[in-house]
Amino acid sequence: MKAITLDRTQDSKLLLTDLQSRALLPGEVRVQIKAAALNHRDEWCRKGLYPNIQDGIVLGSDGAGIVAEIGEGVDDEWLQKEVIINPALNWGENQKVQSASFEILGMPRNGTLAESVVVPVDRLHDKPTHMTWEEAAALPLAGLTAFRALSYQGDIQQGENILVTGFGGGVAQFAVQFGLALGAKVSTSSSSPEKLEKAKSLGVDYTFDYKDDNWILKALEITSGFDVIIDSAVGDTLNHLTQVVKPGGKIIFYGATLGNPSKLEARRIFWNQIKIIGTTMGSDLDFENMLSLVCEKKIHPIIDHVFKFEEAEKAFDRMRDGKQMGKIVLVP
Ligand SMILES: NC(=O)c1ccc[n+]([C@@H]2O[C@H](COP(=O)([O-])OP(=O)(O)OC[C@H]3O[C@@H](n4cnc5c(N)ncnc54)[C@H](OP(=O)(O)O)[C@@H]3O)[C@@H](O)[C@H]2O)c1
Repeated sequence: MKAITLDRTQDSKLLLTDLQSRALLPGEVRVQIKAAALNHRDEWCRKGLYPNIQDGIVLGSDGAGIVAEIGEGVDDEWLQKEVIINPALNWGENQKVQSASFEILGMPRNGTLAESVVVPVDRLHDKPTHMTWEEAAALPLAGLTAFRALSYQGDIQQGENILVTGFGGGVAQFAVQFGLALGAKVSTSSSSPEKLEKAKSLGVDYTFDYKDDNWILKALEITSGFDVIIDSAVGDTLNHLTQVVKPGGKIIFYGATLGNPSKLEARRIFWNQIKIIGTTMGSDLDFENMLSLVCEKKIHPIIDHVFKFEEAEKAFDRMRDGKQMGKIVLVP
């Protein structure tokens, strides 16, 4: 089968290759991939900045397709079903945190950037019928992360003021769409005026350019602060966020694209009773609840561009350069 593996001997660090697909173990299924999508995690793997990196592994956490083969003990009803795959493996029973054996599909286990992928049957869910294959593939990892951040960690309520930073990000776009669907008043920031125009068309209240030194003052003037902020940049921008969150509010972060803050205004945090909360992907229950919301509100993921597997380097470079407006999808 055709597959895109990590190969750090290549200039692009990627290799489109022909792999032998392995036999199924009991409880596993083979999904014929119709579409797969990139996450920033795939780019971190390409850069060698992810734990347990191994060359030769098929990248990709997100995928949607048709069940082509079932292993021993799997119900026949799964055969030929149209499915999406939950890429979070072994979360465990504790809703608060994942187990020590938690794993994400696509490193160190072979992922979705291939003509087929093998996963345990309990990772499968019916493909939302209102979505195309490309939209369905774009949903799982970023949708799950955004949903847990807002719903489990943020516990956002109707009418609350929320800010999602960096609207161009895959997770951020879901956070904006889910926040609106849950009845919050959503604002967002971006470095790109075009991306902010797109956000306005979805119904966000206010937009800010996070590169403008005055955005904090503007945000405070217009909104009088946010109840919940969802962020993945961190770095020294964390000190900006502690200024625009309301006293008693929450800053929830799921990544640290800008690294650690060089300093922290600790007094502002404790005096204002600000909660800074880390979050990562989500439990099986979060995934089910996310799917229910998406299906009930008929939410469509925003697709930036669909590439063929042969164009993988172009697709990865687009993500690396932050040029995308929506999810980058790859089809075999
Ligand atoms: N913990 C988890 O479970 C989890 C899950 C998914 C992702 N992540 C992490 O979260 C981060 C984002 O992932 P992604 O897949 O959504 O990435 P992505 O689609 O590549 O998005 C990155 C976005 O970050 C925004 N950004 C850059 N600098 C910023 C700043 N100073 N302030 C605010 N936003 C800024 C940009 O938004 P604009 O283009 O609008 O300027 C950019 O488009 C990555 O570090 C990723 O590894 C973690």
